Amino acid sequence: MNGQQEESRRYVVTGAASGIGLATKTLLESQGHTVAGVDLRGSDIDADLSVQAGRDALAPAVTAILGDSIDGVIAVAGVAAPTALTVRVNYFGAVASFELLRPLLANSAAPRAAVVASFSALQQNDAELVTLLRSNDEHGAIQRADTLASNGHGDLIYASTKRAIAEWTRATSITAEWAGAGIPLNAVGPGVILTPMTEQLLETPEGREGLMAAVPMPLNGPAAPSVIAGSLAWLTSAQNSHITGQVLFVDGGADVAIRGAQIFGT
Ligand SMILES: NC(=O)c1ccc[n+]([C@@H]2O[C@H](COP(=O)([O-])OP(=O)(O)OC[C@H]3O[C@@H](n4cnc5c(N)ncnc54)[C@H](O)[C@@H]3O)[C@@H](O)[C@H]2O)c1
Repeated sequence: MNGQQEESRRYVVTGAASGIGLATKTLLESQGHTVAGVDLRGSDIDADLSVQAGRDALAPAVTAILGDSIDGVIAVAGVAAPTALTVRVNYFGAVASFELLRPLLANSAAPRAAVVASFSALQQNDAELVTLLRSNDEHGAIQRADTLASNGHGDLIYASTKRAIAEWTRATSITAEWAGAGIPLNAVGPGVILTPMTEQLLETPEGREGLMAAVPMPLNGPAAPSVIAGSLAWLTSAQNSHITGQVLFVDGGADVAIRGAQIFGT
C-alpha cells in the first residue's frame, strides 16, 4: 500500500481477450477493481463491435454484470487488416462503445474514458477516409476503404482510423456530454507493442527493421502491453481530474523522432 490506493472501481475494457486489452484488465483487477471484459470471445462479454447488433448488445450486457453505474470505459479493441473491417472496429466500434456506455458513466462520482489510438495517427493516411469517418458516415467510409483496398492502398486504412479516432477524442472531449459532465476522455498512442498484432512482423529481421524504421523508438524499443495498460489505468483513475482531449504517445520517443520539437504552430 502506498497510501494512494483508490477505492474499488467498475470498468469496461474492450478487446480484453488479448494483448493490450488483456493486460489492462489484468492490471485493473490486480489493483482491486472490477472489470467487465468485452471481446469477440474469451472474456466476460461476447460482442462483435464491428456490427450494429454487437454494439447494441453492449450496454445491456455491461449492466447485467456491473449494474447501471460504471467508473471507466477503455476502448482497446482493434484490428490492423488492410480492409474495411478496420474501419468498422477501430473507429465506429470505439465511438459506439463510448456513446452507448456514456449514460452508465454519467452515474459515477468519478467517470473516466480512454481509447487506444496509435502512433499511426501521425503516419500517412487517406484524407477522404478520415473525413468520412469524422462525418460519422459508416457506409461511405466502408465504401472508401473497399476502394483503397482494391486499388492497392489498403495500408492507409489503419492509419486513417487512428487519425480519425484521435481527432474524435479531441473534438468530443470538451463537449457538454463529456467535459461538461465531468468525464475526462483521452487517447493513448502506442508505438510498437509486443502483442499478437505485431508478432508476425517482428518475427523476421526484415520485418523488424521495416517496422522500427517507420516507428523509431530510441527509448527502450518495443514495449510490453503492460506499459500501455499502466497509462490507460492512470488516465481512467479518479486521480485524473484535469487531463482531457489528449493523445498521450507512449512510443519510446517515436513522435519526437518523427515530428521533432516544433509541433505547436506559430
Ligand atoms: N500492438 C501494437 O503495436 C499496437 C500499436 C498501436 C496501437 N495498437 C492498438 O492497440 C489495440 C489493441 O491491439 P493489440 O496489439 O493488443 O492486438 P490484439 O490483436 O492482441 O488484441 C486486439 C483485441 O481486439 C479484439 N477485437 C478485434 N475485433 C473485434 C470486434 N469486432 N469486436 C470485439 N473485439 C474485437 C480481438 O479479438 C483481440 O482480442 C488496437 O486498437 C490496436 O490498433 C496496437
